[in-house]
Parts: sequence; C-alpha cells; structure tokens
Amino acid sequence: MKIRAMIFDMDGVLTSSSDEHFAAWRILASDLGFDLPDELEVLTKGVSRMDSLEIILKHGQMQDEFTYEQKNELASSKNEIYMDMISKFTASDLLPGAVQLLEVCKAGNIKVALASASKNGPILMERLGITHYFDYVVNPAEIAHGKPAPDIFLKAAGELGVNPRFCAGIEDAVAGIRSIKAAGMIAVGIGDTDELSEADIVYPDCSVVDLLEINRIML
Ligand code: BG6
Ligand code: MG
Repeated sequence: MKIRAMIFDMDGVLTSSSDEHFAAWRILASDLGFDLPDELEVLTKGVSRMDSLEIILKHGQMQDEFTYEQKNELASSKNEIYMDMISKFTASDLLPGAVQLLEVCKAGNIKVALASASKNGPILMERLGITHYFDYVVNPAEIAHGKPAPDIFLKAAGELGVNPRFCAGIEDAVAGIRSIKAAGMIAVGIGDTDELSEADIVYPDCSVVDLLEINRIML
C-alpha cells in the first residue's frame, strides 16, 4: 500500500454535526431577523466560525452593522446554540462506516489524523468515543489560513511525518476538498458527486470507502 495516512474531517464525515452547525446559524439569523436558504449551507461547510459568520451576515445584508466585538459575541451565541445541540451526542451519532473505516486504517498501519476546522472537534471525538483512533489532532486555533487553504492538512501530514503524496484527506465540504487538493493529497469526498466534483473520488458515506481503490489512484 502506498497510502500512509488518512486525514479526516469531522463534521459531516464522521458524524452528522454539519447539520447542527447550519441549524445553529439558522437560529442566529432568525434572531437577527432574516432566514437562511438551504443553498447557503454549502458555502459555510468546512469554513471557520468567523468566516461563516461573515457569510451569514452578508446574506442578511448586515455585514457592516456590527463592530468586531459584537461579531465575536454573535459567533459565541451561535457556538452556545451548537454546543447545546451536540451536548447529547454519543457513539450512536457516528455516521455509517465511520468506526469501521478508522479500524481498517489502524489494521493497515495507516496513520490517522483529524483536520477539522471546528474548535469543538476534540469534544465531539470524546463524546463519539473515537479519540483513541487518532495519532494526531490539529488544533484549528493554531492554523493561520483556514480551508480552502492547504495549511490544516499540511500541518496534519507534517506532524504525522508523512509526505503529502502518500496522504488521503476525507471531506464532505467543497472548501475541504480544495484544501486537500492544494496540499497535494488525494481528496476523498463524502456526499454528493456533483457538489464534490473537485474530489478525486466520492463515496456516499464512509461505509463504502475502498482503501484499495484510493491506493490505486495515488501516483
Ligand atoms: C467545520 C464546519 O467543520 O467547522 C463548519 O463544517 C464550522 O460549519 C467550522 O463553522 C468551525 O466550527 P466551530 O465549532 O469551531 O465553530
Ligand atoms: Mg465537514
């Protein structure tokens, strides 16, 4: 096997928390007096909290109405709503095939890292009971440029000591797929083939991810 490391996104790949992120933004927007259409979700997926807030406010034409401090407060409010939503998450909230894929990586001596843009990643990993599978977890607070910049995936590969050529990144978000490609890795999409057309390969969920197939497309 050429593949030496598998670098996972969390929200929307291992667990459904991408739904809760957008649901929380919807509540915040509604408190501010506007609605968020479904189409906006794809623009915020994989995008950091503050960058997502800018996208939400722009949609409501409110981007110039708040000071930096007020924007921080709005982002904190969204985070409180989100944290409340995931407070009861357990292993039963893992998406299909998530644990099996982590197990297959471990059995095949493939290193495993988390490259989630979410500062709540470690909390979710604990609640889902999957922390022990990971050789390294990137702290997104230490990353200068968020997805779609390659920084977060490159940091994971660097800490694992694996050349990006032998890494695959697995993502449900367009911004994440771009980040993986910019890092020079194989991009595995989880979700819709049309939405994730920039990925090297797309699967509907982790249960059908085929490591041999990914290995074959690794040059
Ligand atoms: C990403 C989500 O994983 O994390 C985004 O897809 C979210 O929706 C981002 O904005 C940051 O998450 P958090 O928990 O730090 O606000
Ligand atoms: Mg995601």
